[in-house]
Amino acid sequence: MPLVEFHNYSMGFKDDDGNVSNLIDNLSFSIDEGKALGVVGESGCGKSMTSLSLMRLLPDAAVVQSGKILFDGKNVLEMSEKEMEVIRGNRLSMIFQEPMTSLNPVLTIGNQIGECLLLHHPDLAPDEIRARTIRSLESVGINNAEARLSQYPHEFSGGMRQRVMIAMAIINHPALLIADEPTTALDVTIQAQILDIMKGLKGDSGGLMMVTHNLGVVAEICEEVVVMYAGRAVERGTLKAIFDEPLHPYTIGLMSSIPTMTSDKSELPAIPGSVPTIYDFGKGCRFADRCSKCMERCMREVPKSLLVGKDHIVACWLYPEGEVV
Ligand SMILES: Nc1ncnc2c1ncn2[C@@H]1O[C@H](COP(=O)(O)OP(=O)(O)OP(=O)(O)O)[C@@H](O)[C@H]1O
Ligand code: SF4
Ligand SMILES: [Mg+2]
Repeated sequence: MPLVEFHNYSMGFKDDDGNVSNLIDNLSFSIDEGKALGVVGESGCGKSMTSLSLMRLLPDAAVVQSGKILFDGKNVLEMSEKEMEVIRGNRLSMIFQEPMTSLNPVLTIGNQIGECLLLHHPDLAPDEIRARTIRSLESVGINNAEARLSQYPHEFSGGMRQRVMIAMAIINHPALLIADEPTTALDVTIQAQILDIMKGLKGDSGGLMMVTHNLGVVAEICEEVVVMYAGRAVERGTLKAIFDEPLHPYTIGLMSSIPTMTSDKSELPAIPGSVPTIYDFGKGCRFADRCSKCMERCMREVPKSLLVGKDHIVACWLYPEGEVV
């Protein structure tokens, strides 16, 4: 049984009049225990909303429209807040996209990490909490960890704070760690260090859902990939299938703009135009207005997700043959 399964999940946002516009549309994918899945796509494609849906931490304006999200076989969308509190930060954990705003400025680093541990293990003795907190800081490469416990977030650099966020996210050895752009806010040297830490964590921490713009990061860490465009999974498959035989014009476009460690995000992507907002989605394929292969049908009909090879799924009218999944 997979650890995580999204089944035809759809969500959107309601406006001031209460009208709901869809963002994530019929999203399906799964993550097996101990495996790493990359979720890729440009800014605004719905990657963070996908992660926050699984964590049940969507913003107030968000509305779940349909589908299921199973974690350990249970639908998180039907869990009570109390049940979620038991798994969140414990079996299911997340490194948030904005680490700088996720730490409490008035609490010491030691207190904040210790709190994550205590919340799920209230019987632990203070000495044990301290020892585990030190070990977790050391595991993400923070030197002199014991002395660092009594310091506050402002005494840490950006890269250090990101390491603290990782330490907090993994302290309870989650079965799934969601990393939402864990390196984007950092300079390239620190990015490389954090990626090395993430690679080292794989296996230790169970499964990984790596959310990123950066296909280079995915290539280094993940076994499977979901390519998202404007709230839809346009292509899914093994790393090899997506990298060696990309089929969807959007995936092909992303591939041609694979960054190196020295290129910056503003150089991407090579695809003309930009991701539409939820109010501008067309009736058919949401990529249609940027696609050089666009046909008449694409404007009218939503492409079906078809199985086109072993574990390789694509949703594009260029590939009309295959089993509907
Ligand atoms: N309150 C809201 N009302 C309408 N649309 C919203 C609202 N909040 C977010 N959105 C839309 O959701 C989409 C952003 O989704 P999300 O944050 O998941 O993208 P992302 O793929 O994580 O992007 P990035 O790479 O920039 O982090 C955008 O299209 C945005 O306009
Ligand atoms: S369905 Fe049509 S518009 Fe959409 S990606 Fe495929 S060819 Fe392009
Ligand atoms: Mg995001």
